[in-house]
Amino acid sequence: MLELLQPQTADKILHMMQMFRDDPRTGKIDLGVGAYKDAEGRTPVMRAVREAERMIWDKEQTKVYTAMPGDPAFLSAMQRLILGRETGAAMATVGGTGAVREALELVRMASPDATVWLSNPTWPNHPAIIDYLGLRRAGYRYFDAETGGLDVQGLLEDLARVKAGDIVLLHGCCHNPTGANLSLGQWAEVAAVLERVGAIPLIDLAYQGFGDGLEQDAGPTRLLVQRLPQVLVAASCSKNFGIYRERTGVLLAVGGDRALVQANLSALNRLSISFPPDHGARVVSTILDDPALHADWMAELEDIRTGMIALREGLAMALRTACRTDRFGFVSEHRGMFSRLGLTADQVEVLRDRHGIYMLDDSRINVAGLSDAAIPIVAAAIADVA
Ligand code: LMR
Repeated sequence: MLELLQPQTADKILHMMQMFRDDPRTGKIDLGVGAYKDAEGRTPVMRAVREAERMIWDKEQTKVYTAMPGDPAFLSAMQRLILGRETGAAMATVGGTGAVREALELVRMASPDATVWLSNPTWPNHPAIIDYLGLRRAGYRYFDAETGGLDVQGLLEDLARVKAGDIVLLHGCCHNPTGANLSLGQWAEVAAVLERVGAIPLIDLAYQGFGDGLEQDAGPTRLLVQRLPQVLVAASCSKNFGIYRERTGVLLAVGGDRALVQANLSALNRLSISFPPDHGARVVSTILDDPALHADWMAELEDIRTGMIALREGLAMALRTACRTDRFGFVSEHRGMFSRLGLTADQVEVLRDRHGIYMLDDSRINVAGLSDAAIPIVAAAIADVA
């Protein structure tokens, strides 16, 4: 049987992580995978996470299973964080990717002929999971590569062609890979089109708190939940709590018969992982339910967010000087961890080979991989290739 397996297509992001690790050069710069890094290049354990782990260590008397959809305290805390209130069905998942995967499995259970619409471009794992599950997919216009901004007209035109019951996968904030995001007013236009055509949004919310602030980043999701009868939200705690390896996420399903939807979510967990992992979820609910820890977590997250904006401004300015053009001005307008620079795959390769600067082939950079020291080096290298 094992000899029948086919070679797997390499995941672009994982492949690049490996190339960076294998590069022996000391001055190499990693702008690849979406993990936050501080000025020293470390991905720190957040203060509130450390403290919550200490509290759990002191208090926890058992490691017996929680509930099939996950610990109720975690689910309630995540509903409040994302939706602003406890509503709909929810389940703990294995990271944000697990939430996306189980959301799409739910779609396949209920509506196997639905088409899943993806922004062009999107996170490479979205189409990969959809294809693996055998669902249909289509793309909608989103990014204007010429300007580094949005193609709002193209987006609205394409969404108008979506059929009733189809799924539209949207990045709730901090679009990955482009960094270009809709304003709340534009989200309202999107909501109106989705309502008119009868589509169901599946919101991938992996970076809440990294864009314009915790509440602001939840705004589009809340707006869609308010306007539309059914909404799925796949959220990750990896980035905003910095607990990447704990694999903590949540799938929220708002609308329909709550008990029926909840029973289906529980069945999905039972079929794929049985009881979900709890440590990361318990860290998150410990933080969110403790006013002092909650405040400290928000303060540290805000420092991370504003630090990334400062890096964006620094890079945009350095590029303006080094390249003598405003072509990269969008870097300071974008939000979240990523920006797509609009370089060719050949230019990206030269950056990697000649300058030891790593980014995805499509020229997506992780802004948090920059530092004040790295900015002029990166800007000079881009000026060299662009
Ligand atoms: C990324 O886009 O780099 C992150 O979401 C990490 C991942 O798993 O791909």
